[in-house]
Amino acid sequence: MAQIRIENVRKDFGAFNAVKSSTFTIEDGEFFMLLGPSGCGKTTTLRMMAGLDLPTSGEIYIDGEEVGQKPASQRDIAFVFQMFALYPHMNVAKNISYPLRSQGMPRAQVRKKVAEIAEILGITDILNRPVGGLSGGDRQRVALGRAIVRDPKAFFMDEPLGALDAEFREHMSHELRALHDRMGATTVYVTHDQLEAMQMGDKIVVMNHGVVEQFGVPQDIYDWPATKFVAQFIGSPSMNFLDFNGSVEQGAQTVDLGDVRMAVPRQLDGGSGALTLGVRPEHVHLNDAAPYRGEVVATEYLGTTQIVTLKTRYGQVQARIPSNVAVREGARTGLEFDARTLTLFNANTGAALRSDANRKVLHHG
Ligand SMILES: Nc1ncnc2c1ncn2[C@@H]1O[C@H](COP(=O)(O)OP(=O)(O)O)[C@@H](O)[C@H]1O
Ligand SMILES: [Mg+2]
Repeated sequence: MAQIRIENVRKDFGAFNAVKSSTFTIEDGEFFMLLGPSGCGKTTTLRMMAGLDLPTSGEIYIDGEEVGQKPASQRDIAFVFQMFALYPHMNVAKNISYPLRSQGMPRAQVRKKVAEIAEILGITDILNRPVGGLSGGDRQRVALGRAIVRDPKAFFMDEPLGALDAEFREHMSHELRALHDRMGATTVYVTHDQLEAMQMGDKIVVMNHGVVEQFGVPQDIYDWPATKFVAQFIGSPSMNFLDFNGSVEQGAQTVDLGDVRMAVPRQLDGGSGALTLGVRPEHVHLNDAAPYRGEVVATEYLGTTQIVTLKTRYGQVQARIPSNVAVREGARTGLEFDARTLTLFNANTGAALRSDANRKVLHHG
């Protein structure tokens, strides 16, 4: 069990700055996601926490002890790689017990431990089978067994399900989460898949170009994105963005989009100039009487809901509405946005116009 904290961690590869200055805390027992597009620095961050790479500057703490310059062997972390390499000439039990046997643990104790692990993973009946003929799922369970048998302080997984097909991936992600909930060990999981991160994580760090854009529980990241990048990266279809020039006073309750006045959440931070209004598709409603107008240019049927795409004065807007509402392409209609869920961004910096204090008020108030 472990709390892991990284403070102002930076990593350079020669002249290239891969991780800028990361700070976040992973609490003991959390299932923690490192999320971001390919190349944003996820693997580099994980490797530094594990001790496989050393930070150029900054500190890494495990349970309060600074370990930034300590090698992996002194950190007691189990790394589950994407490639689950098993020892092909050994059976399941031997593969799982390998780390214990190489430590010289007495045989009776090893047998007891392997039986416990096999029970947790549901593979007791295949302990004597050679690993060669196992299904992909069983191979993955054996590899996990080998990682957890040492009772490490934390598990690190780098896109462990990346190579699997969608259905099996879904199954394994539930299994990994359930395994974590049974064992309670701190788990750090790297993914570029926002849906996977939202479904599996207790907390998420969203990274982009080596920068931590936001860090928090999935619901806060979805409802109150700190930056336009986060707003766009999380959720499908993406949040809608309407660019306009204007000014918003501190604590304002409305914002003027040209000639249309829109209600916004209370206690917004002030800002002016080039602004972007962000609204998620499920918070857009079609209402003939609403003053902000749009023309339906496409509809996409998704079963219980449909995605309606509209052309509006400040940009294209997608609405997620019940599929039993009849919508005709070419029709003009009014659009209404849920005021509580709007986000305003500074269009130049991408930063959301709201302080963390405001976010808490909005979210829990
Ligand atoms: N050993 C290395 N030498 C030079 N550049 C590296 C090295 N490892 C990673 N990088 C670069 O650092 C950036 C972040 O890489 P990485 O952490 O692997 O990203 P991610 O895991 O998010 O896809 C990438 O641009 C990558 O090319
Ligand atoms: Mg990676």
